[in-house]
Amino acid sequence: MTDLHALETELLAAVTNASDEPALEAVRVAALGRNGSISTLLKTLGTMSPEARKEQGAVINGLKDRVTAAIAERKEALKQSALDQRLNTETLDVSLAVPEPPTEVGRIHPISQVVDELTAIFADMGFAVAEGPDIESDDYNFTKLNFPEGHPAREMQDTFFFQPKPDGSQLLLRTHTSPVQIRTMLAHKPPIRVIIPGRTYRSDSDQTHTPMFHQVEGLVIDTSSHLGHLKWILQEFCKAFFEVDQVNMRFRPSFFPFTEPSLEVDIQCRRDKGEVRFGEGDDWMEILGCGMVHPNVLRNCGLDPDEYQGFAWGLGIDRIAMLKYGMPDLRPFFEADVRWLSHYGFRPLDFPTLAGGLSG
Ligand code: DAH
Repeated sequence: MTDLHALETELLAAVTNASDEPALEAVRVAALGRNGSISTLLKTLGTMSPEARKEQGAVINGLKDRVTAAIAERKEALKQSALDQRLNTETLDVSLAVPEPPTEVGRIHPISQVVDELTAIFADMGFAVAEGPDIESDDYNFTKLNFPEGHPAREMQDTFFFQPKPDGSQLLLRTHTSPVQIRTMLAHKPPIRVIIPGRTYRSDSDQTHTPMFHQVEGLVIDTSSHLGHLKWILQEFCKAFFEVDQVNMRFRPSFFPFTEPSLEVDIQCRRDKGEVRFGEGDDWMEILGCGMVHPNVLRNCGLDPDEYQGFAWGLGIDRIAMLKYGMPDLRPFFEADVRWLSHYGFRPLDFPTLAGGLSG
């Protein structure tokens, strides 16, 4: 009997002295766990005579109940004091400014904005969007576009080539979005009416050139589309994109292997203290190349040039973004400086639409 008193005193003291929940748990396991002191005592009941079991059973179970209750009480007290301690140490300065949500702080890059703007304009004219890979074959980037092997026109574009493959062929980073014309014509029968925005690469870097830049290609193939249609489309595009009522455009003869005839297009503008205004002034700024798709290109894509014809154009997205939004240098476009982006970027939920305004 004395044993049990001593054990109870010892266990209750251990409960009281447990300074945190893990310590208390250790005391519980030592008393009530499978091999705990009280559990071991309970196991002895089975070996006793019925009378002794009745008497001892009541005593040991009483001990068990009191220790269990003491542990529960101590656990509650420890929880409470841990909470009090947190409440006393954690403070919240309610005078601090509320942090802005990501939709307020985040900005859409001007290139993404301009791609959305021009997609909205051309979608309204019935164009679909086509895309192709940045890594291209020499065949799609040059040969099928009617660049003859070894022709100097291939050197017009400072191409990034990959290491030659064992069979001698060489992949490259596409130098223009024009290979997607080939992909589109090989995959779809005319009528074709697509725009092709995307990244392009050339080994070039200065204030208006970066090794990676963006173009949007246009391609229309059917049985009757001609340069008159192309001229109207480009004129409507420029008015909608630059958000002006009037643009004067100048079409100059040019050369591209994949078009015949080929033209370059300038728009009239006034350059004033670094600012550019459209539809007035007596400067001209080149913005794109275009032309009627060369019969060889049609043939290379399995189309009969006696049946099908059409036009294409290629426009520098970065350049028209700089012009529209007054950004003097192209290089910061790709430096990922959040200060530049928060200055020139666009609010994420202001989607450009023709009805609602392109640039908000
Ligand atoms: N691919 C040409 C370039 O990057 C641009 C171009 C010119 C595209 C005329 C065309 C085109 O589709 O018809 O310089």
